Amino acid sequence: MSANTPEQAETSTPEPFVPQVEVPEPQRVPGLRLVRLDRTTPEVALLREVLPRQRVAPDQRRFVDEAVHTLPRADEDPERFPYAIVLNSGTLTERSAVLDACVGFGIIDRVGQLRDLVDDPADAVQLRAFYIALEHQGRGIGRAACAAPLLDLFVAAVAPRATQIVLCLNDGNELGERTYSAAGFTPTGRRYDAGEHGMQSVLSRPVQTGYHPVPQLPEPR
Ligand SMILES: CC(C)(COP(=O)(O)OP(=O)(O)OC[C@H]1O[C@@H](n2cnc3c(N)ncnc32)[C@H](O)[C@@H]1OP(=O)(O)O)[C@@H](O)C(=O)NCCC(=O)NCCS
Repeated sequence: MSANTPEQAETSTPEPFVPQVEVPEPQRVPGLRLVRLDRTTPEVALLREVLPRQRVAPDQRRFVDEAVHTLPRADEDPERFPYAIVLNSGTLTERSAVLDACVGFGIIDRVGQLRDLVDDPADAVQLRAFYIALEHQGRGIGRAACAAPLLDLFVAAVAPRATQIVLCLNDGNELGERTYSAAGFTPTGRRYDAGEHGMQSVLSRPVQTGYHPVPQLPEPR
């Protein structure tokens, strides 16, 4: 920064650090949770009842398959971790409350197409089948649900080795592009041919769980 006046020039301080790439701070959504569906709690049972009813807009189906299709496939694959995106505080016990609170869905895949997407597939996970149900879109939920720390803590739980989150974005998915960009994803420059689903750009961002000290075991005597 240059001085505007002689006084400023005399008392000039070191240049402040200005980051080259500014990632917008994703909007926080109080009460937003990602609930693992590979569990057998009463809450998960209710969520599994409700999820197959969720829909995106008809013209968004070229970008994503809804949970009614992708959840059964994930259940058969031990490398895929499906989750419900839930907006409420506390555990859900009533079906009517679950209908209101279950706003979306996603899958973290430890294998997927990673071999074709990144150089080090063992250090990455793929975000797939991610959507916010139509009636809940446009409220900031999508970008918060795929931003740090929410998604990252989920990733750390299911894939502790992962250092990056990768996804494929269809050409023409402008809402997806804005959502992922707001959450800190950037294009890697790679392209993926998803066959009948068209050409996709590969996006990624580092896993950011913040600072969580690992409990130390006592030294063996
Ligand atoms: C992409 C998707 C997850 C975004 O979820 P969302 O909760 O609606 O998104 P948010 O409210 O957090 O908004 C994210 C961005 O999209 C914009 N947006 C969301 N809905 C919008 C609408 N109806 N009209 C215009 N812009 C809209 C927001 O303004 C925001 O952009 P900005 O950060 O530049 O302001 C959702 O649209 C969706 O499920 N789409 C269908 C499935 C899909 O495409 N999944 C991704 C597959 S890779």
